[in-house]
Amino acid sequence: MNLTPKEIVEYLDKYVISQNNAKKTIALALRTRYRRMQLDQELQDEIMPKNILMIGSTGVGKTEISRRLAKMMRVPFIKVEASKYTEVGFVGRDVESMVRDLVVASIAIVKAEKEEENKEKIENYVINKIVEKLLPPLPTGASESKQDDYQRLLKSMEQRVISGEMDDKTIELEMDKINIEFNDTNLPPEMAKVQESFSKVFSQMNKEDNKKEVTVKDAKSLLKIEASSKLLDSTNINAQALERAQDGGIIFLDEIDKIAVSEKSQGRNDPSKEGVQRDLLPIVEGSSVTTKYGVINTDHILFIAAGAFHVSKPSDLIPELQGRFPLRVELESLTEDTLYKILTQTKNSLLNQYEALLGVEGMKLTFEDDAIKALAKLAHRANEVTEDIGARRLHTVIEKVLEELSFSADERNGEEVIITSELVHEKLDIVVEDDDLSRYIL
Ligand SMILES: Nc1ncnc2c1ncn2[C@@H]1O[C@H](COP(=O)(O)OP(=O)(O)OP(=O)(O)O)[C@@H](O)[C@H]1O
Ligand SMILES: [Mg+2]
Repeated sequence: MNLTPKEIVEYLDKYVISQNNAKKTIALALRTRYRRMQLDQELQDEIMPKNILMIGSTGVGKTEISRRLAKMMRVPFIKVEASKYTEVGFVGRDVESMVRDLVVASIAIVKAEKEEENKEKIENYVINKIVEKLLPPLPTGASESKQDDYQRLLKSMEQRVISGEMDDKTIELEMDKINIEFNDTNLPPEMAKVQESFSKVFSQMNKEDNKKEVTVKDAKSLLKIEASSKLLDSTNINAQALERAQDGGIIFLDEIDKIAVSEKSQGRNDPSKEGVQRDLLPIVEGSSVTTKYGVINTDHILFIAAGAFHVSKPSDLIPELQGRFPLRVELESLTEDTLYKILTQTKNSLLNQYEALLGVEGMKLTFEDDAIKALAKLAHRANEVTEDIGARRLHTVIEKVLEELSFSADERNGEEVIITSELVHEKLDIVVEDDDLSRYIL
């Protein structure tokens, strides 16, 4: 992962409009990690990541930025909701499990890479196994000419399996060979080990009667799993994955404001929230977490926290935690113009989605530019008069405009429908201008 900050921002620009500060800060943080990895070990150890706190009201793109990053990057990355965790000792997930999840994500990445490297080997294994099942072996002591024939048969069968010609045939597979992986990271490592040995015992026990009829097509994917567990060195993969998570891992901690305890509402706050914050401290600062795959040090994991902070403020977090997120970025509220751009300039924008969906019914939907402007304007207006829910307002607004069309689309196969600004205003004006109505409808 050695994209320059500019490249990262360019990528994000395709999906997230404006919010340049946030994009830049994150891009820079990612680049800094790359730079760090180029240094010698001693200096590497000294350079700690600067964790980021993204602040912005609801629906302005905080989660979207992270979602897109996760898709783009080949570094171990997970997104978790802070509100999901509970203090150690309470029932629920403890915060250390997020580090374990990161390791699992990392294993998936490394494994996929290894599978790609050994693609041919794995494919050969799969094909050979299937051919073996389809062609009974030649009896020993067969004549030479028979053996030649057999070889030819084998080759042609291989081709037929590869081409998918045999996909519908069924064969019998011994399922016990297929490793069922237990990756429930919710369990503490000691428990996970117990569970693993259980699953081993069970698979031994069932060895005899675990033959299963499957189609060649299914066998291909089942055997692929078997092949990768047999041919790839899982110890090595786990070790590499652990290292990668440790040096390059990113944990996106969403909804962090939900664990802040604001002074106003202290009375009815869940006391365990502060506990979760306290549990987070050592992990964010750097500590060792035991996982099923080994011990991982969290010193160099980058944390990006995000929250709307509507009810609470960043200063409502316990000071130690605030201090561990030195970089603050604020995301701007969305203007009418931004909303317009979100509709017109993002890849797979909402409008494209609706066009595609109604296209399935044979209806050709087009939005006039004026109509899109009107949508943006009314969405912005609705955000002003009621709550500001950011770009999510676009969903409700468009849904309202297209409601009837969408309902009867199947009856209007082959029709071309143009959405004009008149239609938009007709559907929305009364609703937007009436406070009470818009509270219920939009
Ligand atoms: N700046 C933006 N550019 C493009 N799309 C956006 C932008 N902001 C929000 N959206 C869209 O709006 C929806 C909600 O955005 P997102 O999930 O990022 O909100 P959020 O900031 O995480 O809000 P919350 O605090 O409620 O979690 C998504 O579908 C996203 O695609
Ligand atoms: Mg969010």
